[in-house]
Amino acid sequence: MPTVPPERTPPLVLVLFGASGDLTARKILPALANLADRGRLAEEFTVIGVARTPWSDEEFRRVAMKDAQYGGERWRKLVERFRYIPGEYAATDTFDRLKGLLAEADERYGTRGNRVYYLATVPSVFAMIADALAKEGCNAPGEGGEFARLVVEKPYGHDLQSALELDAAVHRAFDEDQIFRIDHYMGKETVQNVLALRFANAIFEPVWNRRYVEQVQITVAESIGVEHRGGFYETAGALRDIVQNHVMQVLSLTLMEPPTGMDATHIRDEKVKLLKAVDIPTPDEAVDKSVRGQYTPGVVDGVAVPGYRAEEGVAPDSVTETYVALRLRVENWRWAGVPVYVRTGKRLPTRVTEVALQFHNVPFLAFDGELARQLRPNTLVLRIQPNDGISLHFGAKVPGEEFRVQSVAMDFLYERAFGEDRGTDGYPRLLHDAMCGDATLFIRTDEVEQAWRIVDPYLEAWSEPGGGLHLYRAGTWGPHIADLLLERAGDSWRNPEL
Ligand code: NDP
Ligand code: BG6
Repeated sequence: MPTVPPERTPPLVLVLFGASGDLTARKILPALANLADRGRLAEEFTVIGVARTPWSDEEFRRVAMKDAQYGGERWRKLVERFRYIPGEYAATDTFDRLKGLLAEADERYGTRGNRVYYLATVPSVFAMIADALAKEGCNAPGEGGEFARLVVEKPYGHDLQSALELDAAVHRAFDEDQIFRIDHYMGKETVQNVLALRFANAIFEPVWNRRYVEQVQITVAESIGVEHRGGFYETAGALRDIVQNHVMQVLSLTLMEPPTGMDATHIRDEKVKLLKAVDIPTPDEAVDKSVRGQYTPGVVDGVAVPGYRAEEGVAPDSVTETYVALRLRVENWRWAGVPVYVRTGKRLPTRVTEVALQFHNVPFLAFDGELARQLRPNTLVLRIQPNDGISLHFGAKVPGEEFRVQSVAMDFLYERAFGEDRGTDGYPRLLHDAMCGDATLFIRTDEVEQAWRIVDPYLEAWSEPGGGLHLYRAGTWGPHIADLLLERAGDSWRNPEL
């Protein structure tokens, strides 16, 4: 994408707060193994894990080998260097040990005072750790070092107010250019490719506006439930978990104006400008333009699955939403009047993330027949996952004497074009960029703020009586009322399986 990051990271120590956790195990360690095996980590590199679980260095190394078991020889050698500090996150002796191990790493492995601190722990301790790092002088590089950076996981706050408070606390400890807020969707190749499609091709940009586009639909559908994260999900819900971050990122890249440069500042300036143009509804409008749902027991992929309220860590009378549909408006010259429909949900029939731009119908259809009447509007679909690619749906003549027209699709598949399975997990790319200091794919403070400004009214409206919850059977496309949200405007959801 935009800038070309150096092949290898500079020398540094990566400090993982929350080293005993799920994210470290499932995403960060495998991403590190991937980078190690591809020669993307400096020789002068090591990892220090910090968490309260009373592991030894050896236990942490064993976990690292198990969680990234496909890692090769380079990874195995790197893991031998790993150190682990068991302790409370903000306790003085945790930091005394940390400073000792950082100095030792500089000495033994030549990590040269450079640090990347990764907050891969529960959000309630983010501010406390940032504060402790500053108090202990760890917010600046060690001797001879060039940088000390802070990588912060999502969720960044649970509403606008708490995000502002968290930001103020983090900014007391680190400057904005030291902070790398992660949204793993930005690490996905296909999300980045939205920029390539729009700005490296002459044919799309002229039609990328209200004159040609009738509506935009963004779908983030998951067939999984909340898995083992019920406790976390209860405090979040689909709007905070997916819409505030992943959907807003995809939406801003899809609808923003062309940036004048493909670097962190220009791209993020345009994303923020776009987010500022998204209409903020009144509480009444918010109820009217949104649907929230929760799955009940059903069948997904032929397997019977429990309802949300029976998931581990979920209250039996929970009113947390696992499905959201919104009708948004972008009030600017390019998009005025074009509805932007957004939906996300767990336990939907299939896993698919896509952006669909549906174009206006022809002004007059001269073809007769049932097939012509069933013609679907031209649609450009950016498929982010799975089978990442791009499809253009258009009408074609059915072979034969009669002149009959039918919808067909022209398909581009990344895997076929580039001949490799590039995976859709953004973590290796994002970790590498953070370690190299490239902030292009990370979320700037004003982006977080704008995204919360957009979703906050829905949170508020839903907390009032009337901001109801609609149940849907697992394995279906959400509550029926979500169809009505579009039908009222004469529209309907695209079937991503077509
Ligand atoms: P976990 O629940 O696994 O927690 C991570 C670690 O934090 C635990 O191992 C635990 O370590 C410590 N911890 C747990 N509760 C507390 C507490 N109350 N006070 C202090 N420490 C605590 O979380 P995840 O690893 O799933 O998530 C970490 C971060 O990454 C979160 O911000 C999450 O939203 C984000 N994230 C996670 C994803 C995932 O798939 N897991 C995906 C995207 C983002 P110990 O007890 O040893 O200190
Ligand atoms: C995470 C959410 O941010 O994204 C999860 O917390 C969700 O609930 C996940 O399952 C989806 O990511 P992906 O890459 O599988 O689309």
